[in-house]
Amino acid sequence: MRALVLSDVHSNIEALATALESAAAAGYDRTLALGDLVGYGPDPNETVDAVRALPGLMGVRGNHDRVASGLGDAGEFNHAARAAALWTRASLSPGGREFLAGLPQGPRHFTDGALLCHGSPLDEDQYLLDAGQARRCFAALPFALCFYGHTHLPGAFVLEGEHVHFEPAAGERTVLALQPGRRYLVNPGSVGQPRDRDPRCGFAIYDEAARTVTFHRVAYAAEETRRKILAAGLPSWLGDRLLLGA
Ligand SMILES: [Fe+2]
Repeated sequence: MRALVLSDVHSNIEALATALESAAAAGYDRTLALGDLVGYGPDPNETVDAVRALPGLMGVRGNHDRVASGLGDAGEFNHAARAAALWTRASLSPGGREFLAGLPQGPRHFTDGALLCHGSPLDEDQYLLDAGQARRCFAALPFALCFYGHTHLPGAFVLEGEHVHFEPAAGERTVLALQPGRRYLVNPGSVGQPRDRDPRCGFAIYDEAARTVTFHRVAYAAEETRRKILAAGLPSWLGDRLLLGA
């Protein structure tokens, strides 16, 4: 199995199209979608349609999918996120809304001992940002590998013996070799709204046979996405941040 691992596309069809073109060149036969397909960006329906068509898709919902599909309220969102969530809710097609509402809450198994989730395997809304939080996840659940999103920061928490450390993935292509006896929480980064000061779209390819996760970053037409965000009347910061990777 070679799986394309996507997270936090956030209605950014330019970033998604670029990521899919690059992933197709790398080759994959399965797709793992870690949530937040929509929210923030200007093309929710196009994004949902494109992701639905991907091979061997398994997905979980993100907090933005939950709110945009009407399953939750935007009470905990900041001003820009709330404005975009309500705009997305009003813009979604009935089919798109139904698809998002049907995405299950994580974690889900995609193979034996391997999970996908949005925030953390313990809480879909948790931002997994430090080693202590990662340690609690490793202690609570018996996975060897778990893909997560939500923070928009690519890299991996690695449990080696009793020690947990984070290995950030920086640069155009980073290969993480999965070692026997170690356990991993892996974030592929964000396709549609990177936040690590690198504006290029991020995704990963998991090669089960080779025991590797390869992180990719590819430049896309962020100026075009920003233009559409402004034209839709969404908060301007949502466009500006795409150019900064913030
Ligand atoms: Fe997100």
